[in-house]
Amino acid sequence: MPTIAIVGAGPILGLSAGKIFGSKGFKVALVSRTQENVDKLAAELAELGVEAKGFAGDVTDSASLESAFTRVREHFGAVDVVSFAPVTKTPNVGVDIVGPEAMTVENTQAQLDVQLHGAIRTVRQVLPEMLERGSGTVLFTTAYAAVEPLAFVANFGIAGSAVRYYARTLHSAVADKGVHVAHVSVNAYINTEPGTEADTIAQLYWEAYTKRDEAELIFQTS
Ligand SMILES: NC(=O)c1ccc[n+]([C@@H]2O[C@H](COP(=O)([O-])OP(=O)(O)OC[C@H]3O[C@@H](n4cnc5c(N)ncnc54)[C@H](OP(=O)(O)O)[C@@H]3O)[C@@H](O)[C@H]2O)c1
Repeated sequence: MPTIAIVGAGPILGLSAGKIFGSKGFKVALVSRTQENVDKLAAELAELGVEAKGFAGDVTDSASLESAFTRVREHFGAVDVVSFAPVTKTPNVGVDIVGPEAMTVENTQAQLDVQLHGAIRTVRQVLPEMLERGSGTVLFTTAYAAVEPLAFVANFGIAGSAVRYYARTLHSAVADKGVHVAHVSVNAYINTEPGTEADTIAQLYWEAYTKRDEAELIFQTS
């Protein structure tokens, strides 16, 4: 059975990614800062018949993330797919997430550390073994502010656009080495109106994993 590691796993898209990959026969490793949170998600997946386990790990801390991946491999073996999608919970728009006039090096650094640096840290944990095997999938998720500038979330969007740049260049660099990299950007507030359900959006992850043709998939409501 292959394994997916969901990094930044929470109750919205993280859980739905676990549901879809789990329903297709994947073992699911759930990584977030809080063991209790990922334990809850693992229990929900187990009720659906999915083999899942939570691992505490913080994408802003290299040692913490390395330790999480060591435990994932000890428990499940090699990681076949990684989905990177951490997000700090609202309400923090206007406080931590700000418009350009309120941007500081500090509040921008914080976003870069979770998103861009977290993405790099995650890739460092899985890419060498994927390249050695000649197989693997790396999925990155951002909000649509990564694609289209949105003033009121400027520091968040800038960090997301850096993830997008990283994902697309990594896609090109490793595409002919058996590793598929895709960026998924979500242009919706999830679970707020029909068609924006997390389970619907998570289908894009499965599409990216199975079709392996696009560097970027954008979720839009019609
Ligand atoms: N929700 C939306 O409406 C929406 C809209 C557009 C795009 N998106 C994008 O979709 C992706 C997933 O968002 P979601 O809302 O669905 O979230 P989610 O999967 O429900 O949860 C994300 C989880 O990330 C974890 N996290 C936060 N900081 C972390 C860190 N430093 N290290 C490790 N884990 C961390 C949090 O758990 P802990 O607190 O336990 O660490 C949180 O539960 C994100 O890229 C987001 O930008 C979401």
